Amino acid sequence: MTNSTPSRMPLFDAIDQRRSVRGFLPTRIPEQTLDDIFTAAGKAPSNCNIQPWKVFLAKGAATSELRAKMCAAAATLTPTPDYSSPRPFPPEYRTRQIDCAVALYQELGITREDKQARAQAAMRNFEFFDAPYVLFIGMDAKFGASVALDVGMYAQTLMLAMTAHGIGCCAQGALRQYPQVVRDFFGIDDSINILMGLAFGYEDTSHPANRTRVGREQVNTYLKVRDC
Ligand SMILES: Cc1cc2nc3c(=O)[nH]c(=O)nc-3n(C[C@H](O)[C@H](O)[C@H](O)COP(=O)(O)O)c2cc1C
Repeated sequence: MTNSTPSRMPLFDAIDQRRSVRGFLPTRIPEQTLDDIFTAAGKAPSNCNIQPWKVFLAKGAATSELRAKMCAAAATLTPTPDYSSPRPFPPEYRTRQIDCAVALYQELGITREDKQARAQAAMRNFEFFDAPYVLFIGMDAKFGASVALDVGMYAQTLMLAMTAHGIGCCAQGALRQYPQVVRDFFGIDDSINILMGLAFGYEDTSHPANRTRVGREQVNTYLKVRDC
């Protein structure tokens, strides 16, 4: 690290501290910090080193413009994602999905019966949770699950690099619902599919959504070991 490199937290601290942030301050991130983050993310592994990720970043006024377009799409258009999500999740996973939503709604003071408030909370996705930065990650439409795996590794490396710099983020599958809005905005052709969005910036620690904490299963519930 040179003297001019911004300070970063150690890896295990970043792993422990990363969580989904759903409320941001308008504060801009120094360009050097952004460079450091994207350089680190690009070190993610990929099969045969093909580096298949395509990343489209909006900041400042561009974020506001895209936010308006996304909210308009969410209010008026039928979603046409390039990749569908498995819904409903099978029972094992559905329980965790519900627990995760309940944890967020509890912090926001939303009851399960209050459909309007839940819809408003879902709309926050398209407002990018007020983040001053949003990015979209895509890949060549010819690729499938095997290459999406590479892109997922890029995404997690990116999120950890942000955390290491004290920057909050939230991965957003919801932002894959209107891929044509994203393609039109960034001038992306149809050969690129949109996998996810990522809102990021400095955390608004006073936002109730940011009190949300979700747990994890014990390792022995999914790790099966044979030693002989
Ligand atoms: C691929 C992916 C898509 C996600 N999509 C959304 C989303 O659309 N909206 C949202 O609020 N959170 C989204 N999340 C955040 C998850 O809900 C969150 O990671 C999970 O509940 C674990 O919580 P944590 O990130 O705070 O550890 C997504 C996470 C991932 C990895």
